[in-house]
Amino acid sequence: MNEYLSDHVHLSDDGTAVVILDQTQLPNRTEYLTLRTAQEMFDAIQMLQVRGAPCIGICAAYDFYVLAQQVDGNTNAVQFLSELSKQADYLASSRPTAVNLRWALDRMLETAKRCAEYPDRLEVLHQECIAIHKEDIAMCRSIAEYGLSLIKNGDGILTHCNAGPLATSRYGTALGPLFLGKERGMDFHVFSDETRPLLQGARLTSYELSRAGINVTLICDNMASLVMKNGWIQACFVGCDRVAANGDAANKIGTSGVAILAKHYGIPFYVLGPTSTIDLNCVSGEDIPIEQRDSEEIKEKFYTEPMALPEVTCYNPAFDVTDHELISGIVTEYGICRAPYTESLRAVFEKKRAGLPYGTPEED
Ligand code: MRU
Repeated sequence: MNEYLSDHVHLSDDGTAVVILDQTQLPNRTEYLTLRTAQEMFDAIQMLQVRGAPCIGICAAYDFYVLAQQVDGNTNAVQFLSELSKQADYLASSRPTAVNLRWALDRMLETAKRCAEYPDRLEVLHQECIAIHKEDIAMCRSIAEYGLSLIKNGDGILTHCNAGPLATSRYGTALGPLFLGKERGMDFHVFSDETRPLLQGARLTSYELSRAGINVTLICDNMASLVMKNGWIQACFVGCDRVAANGDAANKIGTSGVAILAKHYGIPFYVLGPTSTIDLNCVSGEDIPIEQRDSEEIKEKFYTEPMALPEVTCYNPAFDVTDHELISGIVTEYGICRAPYTESLRAVFEKKRAGLPYGTPEED
């Protein structure tokens, strides 16, 4: 296993805290944070010290387990559940768009409901957060395999934001096929959008890829059209924060623009994500809440002095929704879903509910 595919969210050795790699310090510093209180956990997610939809879900599951230890004490089952439910709502409010956060907290809460009366309830919750983490590793590996079947050696790939190992565990989603292809001796040329305003593409994607020896060129977001026009891109691979039942996909702001450009230039545009990011309760993208963030991120962050007057108003949505009609395929751990997505996504969930194995591109 490549060292850059190692886990960056885990429990402390004594299991009473969550340890995360602080992603806001990358690529210049490798610093870890130890999270013990609900406030520290909320802040780490809200400030993007831990980020990427699946990774936030994994972190939240560990957070829940740590908080469960703190409320365990002499609480009866009702008090235990009531306190944990409050903590889960609090953590879930830190970032509204990435559904993995609420998904993981709900799964931990459901487990807590089942085991609240047991003397070993903490151990049951411990096993559940480990299971969520392990499942993400397996899902990413399968997504990588399916994604790799869509590209060939030497292809140019454009990606937006960061959907690599840092945003998940191990392989990542949108970047997974590239890591897997690299392991198999393939070469790709990746163009990484820098991803304004928080620069996940510059700080994280180009860091992960270059450290793994994958050929990456960093571009400003407004250069995507030109590199496509030049014929340098054979496919776009992006991650997702929430996919609606009709295939509309929320991802980092700017993703929908990439999809529109890809359609213009006749380039396939793929969204890669695990089923934990698909929310069938959202009928379409209209139902996906979009996080709004502070104007400081646009005007000041990363600059040595403010780049706009204090009185200038900013609009800073963290995500946009790509219309399903612009998406060539949605790559899940169960395979590649094609339009009509209402049917293909439902079919994936039927397989999941039936507990079927993921399958392989060769079998599909
Ligand atoms: O605001 P961020 O950095 O958490 O946004 C992340 C993205 O948009 C990713 O593409 C998405 O979460 C998928 S990560 C596998």
